[in-house]
Amino acid sequence: MSALFPTYKRKQIQLKKGNGSYVYDQDNKKYLDFTSGIAVTSLGHCHPEVVAALQKQSDCIWHTSNLFEIQQQEQLALTLVKHTQLDLAFFCNSGAEANEAAIKLAKKFTKKNKIITFNDSFHGRTFGSMSATGQQKIKEGYGPLVSTFIHLPWNDIEQLKKQADNDTAAIMMEVIQGEGGIKIADLDFYKEVQEICEKNDILLVIDEVQTGIGRTGKRYAYEHFGLDPDIITLAKGLGNGFPIGAILGKRKLAEAFGPGSHGTTFGGNPLACAVSQSVLNIIFHDEFLNEVERKGKNFKEQLEKHLIKFPSVKEIRGEGLLIGIECENAGELIINLEKKGLLTVPAGEHVIRLLPPLNVTDEELSLALNTIQRAFNNKYETVT
Ligand SMILES: Cc1ncc(COP(=O)(O)O)c(C=O)c1O
Repeated sequence: MSALFPTYKRKQIQLKKGNGSYVYDQDNKKYLDFTSGIAVTSLGHCHPEVVAALQKQSDCIWHTSNLFEIQQQEQLALTLVKHTQLDLAFFCNSGAEANEAAIKLAKKFTKKNKIITFNDSFHGRTFGSMSATGQQKIKEGYGPLVSTFIHLPWNDIEQLKKQADNDTAAIMMEVIQGEGGIKIADLDFYKEVQEICEKNDILLVIDEVQTGIGRTGKRYAYEHFGLDPDIITLAKGLGNGFPIGAILGKRKLAEAFGPGSHGTTFGGNPLACAVSQSVLNIIFHDEFLNEVERKGKNFKEQLEKHLIKFPSVKEIRGEGLLIGIECENAGELIINLEKKGLLTVPAGEHVIRLLPPLNVTDEELSLALNTIQRAFNNKYETVT
């Protein structure tokens, strides 16, 4: 009898060991891990440079509280804002916490209440971030929720034009909806969002918790769409598995986040920041990011070439190494893939989400492609 709350529907697999793109279960069965702990272990498991950074810092000092200057935090903030129009960072411990901070900052700075988010979005499980989330099933039984948020259809410019006004504090969105099913809007939609924000003094808040830190082949996914956000939120890939989250924002916002206005005990402690810095030292280079883009593009093209013949496959979409296969029976296929030694995650209703580590090799991508083809062939022997 487990002493855990049954909040998760767990698989009967215990992953005991990880090395690079591979993990091993209790029976030493080997899997190619295309979940990356849901977009977290972007450099694979137990990356030697990340392990070394953790060990080095753990011998020195782990935690000091934010009452003291933390040099590792200063350094990490500079690395994160470099190459962006953003100036300042605040560190926390998770994606939901980062979104909480962004929501608080947007409301305090603008002195306005309304925040627009989108149907099918996912922003976390705390009260504010859950209220921001555009999926009813996440909120079931928890009402009344925070009344700040209105949810609009994704990719619907007309609705947005109707609802965005001078009373709106922020528009908050994932530029690629991750949990919602790897949904990308039309280019015009992003352009319109930016214009509406500028015209009405609305802050643009982009949730990069899943898409950030190189996942899509850019440092941050908003760069693909020519956007100029006021705030972005980060977590997941930022620590390669060590819990850390952050918001990055424009300098003008500093006046609303003065001493005592927001805080956290653990956020940005020396250990978390040292680990995260070692992750960025590898990912935040154009050569590395270009490779993510190249591998993602090739992999997506190969998936399209080999899977589009199956009538059950509706679309293959994504950016960089955040890829979704929309198909009937996604759940069954995910179980079949797992049996064949490839771990993937569902997204939305009918999407197999592929999240390989960003340093995945071409050979590992070929192996995954081959496994996916075999799973589809088993399931749909009569192919048109
Ligand atoms: C886009 C997005 N925002 C926020 C979150 C919440 O992050 P966390 O689980 O670290 O609180 C997630 C988690 O899946 C996410 O995908």
